[in-house]
Amino acid sequence: MSDPVIETIDLVKKFRDVVAVNKVSFKVMRKEIYGLLGPNGAGKTTTINILITLLKPTSGQAFVDGIDVVKSPEKVRKKIGVVFQDPSLDVFLTAYENMYIHGKIYGLGGKELERRIKELLDFVELKPFADKVVRYFSGGMRRRLEIARALLHDPDILILDEPTLGLDPQTRNKIWEYIKVVRKERGITILMTTHYMDEAEFLCDRISIMDHGRIIAEGTPEQLKSIIGSDVVLIKFSDSQKPMCLDNDLDGAIISCRSVSGNRVELVVRDAVKTLPRIFEEYERKGLVIEEISYRRPTLNEVFIYLTGRELRDSLEDQPRPIHRWR
Ligand SMILES: Nc1ncnc2c1ncn2[C@@H]1O[C@H](COP(=O)(O)OP(=O)(O)OP(=O)(O)O)[C@@H](O)[C@H]1O
Ligand SMILES: [Mg+2]
Repeated sequence: MSDPVIETIDLVKKFRDVVAVNKVSFKVMRKEIYGLLGPNGAGKTTTINILITLLKPTSGQAFVDGIDVVKSPEKVRKKIGVVFQDPSLDVFLTAYENMYIHGKIYGLGGKELERRIKELLDFVELKPFADKVVRYFSGGMRRRLEIARALLHDPDILILDEPTLGLDPQTRNKIWEYIKVVRKERGITILMTTHYMDEAEFLCDRISIMDHGRIIAEGTPEQLKSIIGSDVVLIKFSDSQKPMCLDNDLDGAIISCRSVSGNRVELVVRDAVKTLPRIFEEYERKGLVIEEISYRRPTLNEVFIYLTGRELRDSLEDQPRPIHRWR
């Protein structure tokens, strides 16, 4: 295996009594898309800020392309392109001017800078808006411009902090597409954070799930799902019946159960095929009629629930609901 392009070793960052990052160690290999996935306050941005040399760690080490981020911050900055979680464009300048100033900061100029700006604005489909003031751009256009700007100095590594936060589904898909193309065509290594599990699953080769400053699991999306070693069963009851979880776990066959919208319950079970007949039987015994039943592989959200007992999602629709756990 090649050397890691990004490596953190027991990274710790404390803000007074808050331990934002707690002994975080991970490696990102060349041309990998690696995700830090976790809820608000998990420590994702703090980890990123150490790697991009904006913050010094309290203890531990971090390396970018073998360069120590504390000892040689300038060298690290040349290697990386960054899209910050919070918008960082000058909204009173045009798209072109935002790119131009960034290029100048990185020591670019002349025809070469002009060529790169045009090429990258074209890549994110903003060429027709090059001379428009950014204030009038939509959230998606701004994000695309930030991605183009991060690529301007031709970095080996792209760091994206919540690249699609707050964007509509269509715009998110576009940005996902750019990220995939950037890796494929430019051979760039990408480290990104997200709290959207679908985003992590779609984009990332490997993921670290973070919670309360710690990495609680790491692996490919499939490896993470196999932590549960189980399936998710969805049961819909008839409208006249209140959805309910069973009061026993069928000898350990059911790992957890929670009620979800649409008069349904969702069960995490060890083996759906074996357990379904028993679930039917048990509900029948209780006099409850199942209208519909289906099963699927777990999502990363279910992995997170399994590991922490909490939901990872944070949209209104996905507010935490009571969860029954037997273990
Ligand atoms: N400058 C700071 N001073 C004090 N506490 C901070 C500071 N920056 C972050 N924290 C705290 O550190 C913890 C981790 O924050 P961080 O921003 O790294 O989380 P995150 O995973 O990026 O969350 P989000 O999804 O909301 O962006 C939080 O409890 C946060 O309040
Ligand atoms: Mg953050």
